[in-house]
Amino acid sequence: MTTTTTTTNAFELIAQGAEARVYKGIYLGRSTLMKERFEKKYRHTDLDNRLTKDRIKAECRAILRAKAAGVTTPAVYLANFQRRCIYMEYIENAVLLKEFIEKNVSKSGTDVLADSSTLLLNVIADALGTIIAKLHSKNIIHGDLTTSNILLKNVNEHHSTDTGNYDDVTTSNFVVIDFGLARIESSVEDKAVDLYVLERSLSSAHSEVPLLFSKIFDTYQKCYTNRNQCKEIVTKYKEVQSRGRKRLMIG
Ligand SMILES: Nc1ncnc2c1ncn2[C@@H]1O[C@H](COP(=O)(O)OP(=O)(O)OP(=O)(O)O)[C@@H](O)[C@H]1O
Ligand SMILES: [Mg+2]
Repeated sequence: MTTTTTTTNAFELIAQGAEARVYKGIYLGRSTLMKERFEKKYRHTDLDNRLTKDRIKAECRAILRAKAAGVTTPAVYLANFQRRCIYMEYIENAVLLKEFIEKNVSKSGTDVLADSSTLLLNVIADALGTIIAKLHSKNIIHGDLTTSNILLKNVNEHHSTDTGNYDDVTTSNFVVIDFGLARIESSVEDKAVDLYVLERSLSSAHSEVPLLFSKIFDTYQKCYTNRNQCKEIVTKYKEVQSRGRKRLMIG
C-alpha cells in the first residue's frame, strides 16, 4: 500500500478516486483524513493551480455551510493550497451507506422486502430527505449525492437479524462527505438536478429497493422550509426527469 509522510506523521493511502487521493493519519493528535487533489498534466500549471485552489475553497466552504445548516459533516482542520489538500476529521466507526444498505436490506424469500427491511428503509429515507432538504433550504448543492458519499456512524452494522429496532439510526448518524463538486449558490434547477443525480445513482446502486428515492423525496418536501420554492423544485424535477428519460431512450 502506498504511503506518504507529513512533517509529523505517516499517512496511509486509503482510497483513490478520479480527482483525488485520500489518506488516513494523525494530525495534531487527531484521527485525520487528508484529501489531496491530483495535478492535471493536460492543463497549464498556473491555471491548474488556480482551479484546484478554487475547488478546495469551495469544498471547505460547503462542508462548513452544511454543518451550519445542521447536517453532520467532518470537521475541517486545515486547507493547504500548495499541497493541494484538505485535512479533516476522520469519521471513526463508520460504514458507507451503500454497504450498509447492501448488508441490511434483504428480500424475504419471495420478491418482497422483509418487514424489518422496509422499516429500516423508512428510517434511512427519512434521514436522507431531511438532510437534503436542510442543504437545499440553505442553497447548498452537494453535486454528487450517492450512497457512496454518505457515511453511517456508530450503528450496529448487522441489523438484518434484529426484530426491527432502529433507535440507533438517527439523522445525526448520517455523515455527508465528498463536497468536491458542491456549490453554495444555487437555483431551483440546480436543486432539481441534485435530486435527479441521487435518483439515478439509487436506481443503479440499489435497484432492489425501487421505492427508496420516492420516500426520500416525500420527506424532502415535508422538511423543505420554503413551501413555494419547494413546489417550483418539484415541477422542475419532473422536467429534468423527463429530459433525462428522453435522453436515455435516444441513447
Ligand atoms: N471524513 C472521512 N472519514 C472517514 N472516511 C472518509 C472520510 N472522507 C472520505 N472517506 C472515505 O474515503 C472515500 C473517498 O472519499 P471521497 O468520496 O471524499 O473522495 P473521492 O475522491 O470523491 O472518491 P470517489 O471518486 O470514490 O467518490 C469515501 O468513500 C470514504 O470511504
Ligand atoms: Mg466520493
